[in-house]
Order: sequence, then C-alpha cells, then structure tokens
Amino acid sequence: MFRCRKRSNGNHSKSLYERIFSNCAIQTNAKEQHAILIVKEVTSMLNYTHDIPTKVYFGKGAITHLEEALRQFGTNVLLGYGGGSIKKIGLYDEIMKILNDGGFRVTELSGIEPNPRIESVAKGVELCKENKIDVVLAVGGGSTIDCCKAICSGYYYEGDDLWYMVKHVKGPKKSLPLVDILTISATGSDFDGGGVITNLETNEKLGASFTYPSVSILDPTYTFSVSAYQTAAGSADIMSHIMEGYFSRTEDSELADGIAETILKTVIRNLPIALKEPDNYSARANLMHCESVACSGIPEYGKQSTGWPCHAMEHELSAYYDITHGVGLAILTPRWMRYILKKDPSCEWRFVRFAKNVWGLEGNDEHELALSGIAILEKFFKDNGIPMTLGELNIDETHFRAMADHACEGGRLANAFVPLESDDVVEIYKDCL
Ligand code: NZQ
Ligand code: ZN
Repeated sequence: MFRCRKRSNGNHSKSLYERIFSNCAIQTNAKEQHAILIVKEVTSMLNYTHDIPTKVYFGKGAITHLEEALRQFGTNVLLGYGGGSIKKIGLYDEIMKILNDGGFRVTELSGIEPNPRIESVAKGVELCKENKIDVVLAVGGGSTIDCCKAICSGYYYEGDDLWYMVKHVKGPKKSLPLVDILTISATGSDFDGGGVITNLETNEKLGASFTYPSVSILDPTYTFSVSAYQTAAGSADIMSHIMEGYFSRTEDSELADGIAETILKTVIRNLPIALKEPDNYSARANLMHCESVACSGIPEYGKQSTGWPCHAMEHELSAYYDITHGVGLAILTPRWMRYILKKDPSCEWRFVRFAKNVWGLEGNDEHELALSGIAILEKFFKDNGIPMTLGELNIDETHFRAMADHACEGGRLANAFVPLESDDVVEIYKDCL
C-alpha cells in the first residue's frame, strides 16, 4: 500500500523554470516500505476566474453618481448606517438632500454595530419586507456594508433562521441590489462579495458569501475623520488581506506578487502620513485605493490558496471579545509568522522575499533576513499605535482551546500555507499574550 506525504525539497537556488517544471516526483523509500510523494514547495501558476460585477466611482465628489446608482433599481431605499459617524461628518445630510430632492422614499436602519450582529441583519430584513424596499444603501465601514449584504440576501431567504443562512447556505445568494458609500479604509467589502456576521450568543463570527455591491462610491475625503486607532487598525487589515495570500507556495504568479508588494509598500508609506495629517488627501486616497483592491482576490490570482489563517484566528478573538478586527490581525500576524517559520523552515524563501521586496532589507544570512522582515512588521504596527499584545486587550488564556478548535474545525487550516492544527493555534495565541 502506498502512503503519500508532502515533503519540501528545500531547493531555492534552482532557476524558477527548474523549480516549476520539476514540481512533483514519486520516490520509493525502501526502509519505510512506502512511496513518498515529494511536493516541492514551489508550485506553478494556477487557473483563475475574474468576475467582479461592482461598478466603482472613486474620488472626491464621487457622490454625484449616487442618484443614478440607486434609481436604476427603484425609489424605495433602505439606508443602513452605524453609530453616527456619518452624521458627525455631514454625510448623512448630504445623502438625505440627494434622496429627498430625487423623490426617493427612505427607510432607515441605524446603529449597525462594529462586528455586526445577526440581530441587525434580522431587523434590516424585516424593514425591507415591511417597506417593499427596492435597493439597500449602506453608508459606513465594513461592518455596515457586511450587514447590508446579509440583509440583501436575507430578504430572499426562505427559512426563518437567518443565522442558519449565514452558517450553512453556501455561495452567492439571490439578493436585493446593494449600493454603498465607504467611509473607512479597511476591509474591501465595497469590492468583494463576502460579509462577516457575529452571533454573540454562540460566540461565532462567520464569513459568508452574500452579494457584491452593484455600485460602490469611494470618496477618500469621507475618511478624514476616522480616528488614529481605526485608521491604523484598518491599515493592518489591508496589509493582512495581502499577507494572507502573499504567503503562498506559488512563486511564479509574478503580477499577483507584484501587486501585493506594491500595496504593502503603499500602506507602509501612507499610514504614518494619514496619522500625522488626517486630512492629507493623497495619503487617504492611496489607503482607500489599496483597501479596495486588497481583498478583491486580484492580488491572489493564480496562487495556491493559503487558508487565510490569521483571519480564521482573529475572527475567534472578535467573536469572544468583540475586539477591532485589524488590531487582532496586527497582534496575530508576526506571531503566526515566527511560529510557521520555525515549524516549517522550507517556507523561508517567502519570508526572505517579503523582507527584501517589501521592506528593502538586505543581507546574506537568509534566516536572519526572514526574521528581520517579521520584526520590522511588528515594529511598524507598534510605531503606528496598535496595541501589540492580547494582554493589552484584557484577553487571557481562558478560551484559547475553544477558539483554536473552532478555527481549525473541519480541517479548515489543514491546507494552509503551513498547515495548522488546534495545538498550533493555541501556541500562537499564547505567543500573543
Ligand atoms: O459606527 P460608526 O459611527 O460609523 O463608527 C465606525 C466604527 O465605530 C467608525 N467609522 C467609520 N467611518 C468613520 C468612522 N469614524 C469616523 N469617521 C468615519 N468616516 O469606525 C469604527 C469601525 O467601523 P467598522 O465598519 O467596524 O470598520 P471596518 O471597516 O474595519 O469593518 C470591520 C468589520 O468588517 C469585517 C470585520 O471582521 C469586521 O466585522 N470584515 C469584512 C470583510 C469583507 N466583507 O470582505 C473582510 C475583512 O477581513 C473583515 O473580516
Ligand atoms: Zn480582514
């Protein structure tokens, strides 16, 4: 009987061509009496499909497109927004003037929470049904947009348990049309079809595929008012969306890697400027441009999937402790990096590339370079005001095992860049204390 297992060849000095075209070999190991499938860590570029149906209006004054964006779907609008930031910056008044002047009928859903709750989704679906809504307008950050995406899909969901829909109904769903106006640069929800909904009763925070926005309005001036904390957290989220896909075994998807590295460098350059000068248009515009592309899938086209392990681990943290998503990611990422580098040194070449191409580091000792790239990332987050330990968020070991088990449920991280099991995840959480 043959048993197969992965083995790294650890050969990075070969040319790219050699590494790609000598990718797989079967070797007999007489001593172990089984065949070992040697899968070298470098794989060649994979097929992909580009299918993003969202129309994006980017830039100062893009709101002039709002009326036409909505009218194509009807005049009965559900306006969803969060805890009031859109009123403080005058955006709510600007929108209401456009809608009132245009003869739209508006129903409001306010108070959508950061880490949006399933209860808000249920409330929104009810409002849509009661008021025969034609189109949903989400104004805010990822939380508001995600909640509105779930509302759009929930409207057509035939069951009465919306949490069941989030948890079990796979793939894009029949949905009401969605238009959004983004006010914080972070998630990329304006340019993807996913949404993340929280159920505090069950301590679950789950991502699901709902619907793409039909139209997204991205005006960087709306982000001038975002606090330093949320600006830094949002930037960490953008960077994480890139790093989750960048650390992949596929080496020859050159455009994808180039896009990823450019986005990382753009955030690294512009976050400190946005923190120092919150109304610096160029810095805010660059961050917004990056956030939109980072989670769209484009920086991963052609690359082997990676399991997005830091997101899996972070969603557990925010499900239990309701923390800011980007902060959780910033804390986890350097610890995850050090852990996997130790667990599987065959992935070192990726870290070397990260250190060189993203941070401009140089040196002959590849291991030192890999570690320096991680250290400088951690310092960057810290220097930009992000708390970098779970202790600072009052999180202790109490739920680590339950969170780790859930993050790895169904072997979810078994095919990650470096496969992780529950014990690994517990260790990574502990390293974050
Ligand atoms: O609620 P309001 O008053 O609007 O205040 C928000 C909130 O307190 C505030 N804010 C937003 N725009 C502002 C502003 N404050 C001042 N001025 C403005 N212009 O910022 C706070 C955070 O808002 P939120 O929407 O929660 O932030 P973010 O965009 O980071 O969204 C986080 C949520 O998205 C999920 C996360 O898990 C989390 O639930 N994600 C969604 C993804 C997706 N759909 O693709 C992918 C991500 O990986 C992520 O998981
Ligand atoms: Zn994220």
